[in-house]
Amino acid sequence: MESFSADWLALREPDDHAARDAALTARVAARLNRLARPARAIDLASGAGSNVRYLLPRLPHVSHWTLVDYDPALLAVARQSLQPMAEAAGVTLDTQVVDLRHIGALPLDGYDLLTTAAFLDLVSTEWIDRWVVCCTRHAVPVLAVLSYDGHLQIEPADPMDEEIRTLVNRHQQTDKGFGPALGPDAAAYAARALQVRPEDFSASDWVLSSASAELQRQLVAGWAGAACEMAPSRHDAISNWNARRRAQADQGVLRVVVGHRDLFAMPGRSLSPTR
Ligand SMILES: C[S@@+](CC[C@H](N)C(=O)[O-])C[C@H]1O[C@@H](n2cnc3c(N)ncnc32)[C@H](O)[C@@H]1O
Repeated sequence: MESFSADWLALREPDDHAARDAALTARVAARLNRLARPARAIDLASGAGSNVRYLLPRLPHVSHWTLVDYDPALLAVARQSLQPMAEAAGVTLDTQVVDLRHIGALPLDGYDLLTTAAFLDLVSTEWIDRWVVCCTRHAVPVLAVLSYDGHLQIEPADPMDEEIRTLVNRHQQTDKGFGPALGPDAAAYAARALQVRPEDFSASDWVLSSASAELQRQLVAGWAGAACEMAPSRHDAISNWNARRRAQADQGVLRVVVGHRDLFAMPGRSLSPTR
């Protein structure tokens, strides 16, 4: 199964937060406000807590957060960093070590929002189908953000970019523990399964300038590694591409766009407007 380092999650957090559709979050906040009582929210695949760090100050009606992940070390990082923020806001939180492959066993009673970030691209169609059944049964609104959508654009252009993108997207669809991963197709598949309205399905692309040079370097190296796994015979050409891109990141001349999608849905409820 996939494991993610706290350092990698911390490195991407500022660009994750900048990329998110703030208007979609504001509509979710307005919806929770209309409950006219304190709300409870659950974050799936929380990692080191980036999604809750973003949402906690923006969803002031959430009085309790549950963070769920199968990695106890990441959840410990999340707890340590979020606790002071939560206490200052009068919010409580708990963390639960759960293997989300068994999504049907997750207790969702009493939650007013289920959210997840940078996770849906790891799962399979079969998992999304089971997840949608759970969310519908509990009629819990869903905010799923930062799902990779397959779009990569690097400037200045390089003749090998399209080959790398194709190999990376194939690698994205290998099994990450949930069966063959949806990868770039995850957000669109989830949006259909959850009957998301077009206005609640929006772009949240990373646009990485030289200010994010270390993230650029690590992304490019990660893509080169994934591409080599899919096409070992192309190892030398891919390594040369990686070296060219790394040198450009070092020189501060690289611009990288990575496509992502945010969505909001209200499964099990009539499609009343979110605004
Ligand atoms: C790309 S990270 C995103 C973390 C966090 N949501 C964020 O935005 O920084 C994916 C997360 O999924 C978690 N994960 C992967 N497979 C899992 C599983 N089977 N059960 C629970 N969590 C899982 C990983 O531990 C990791 O924290």
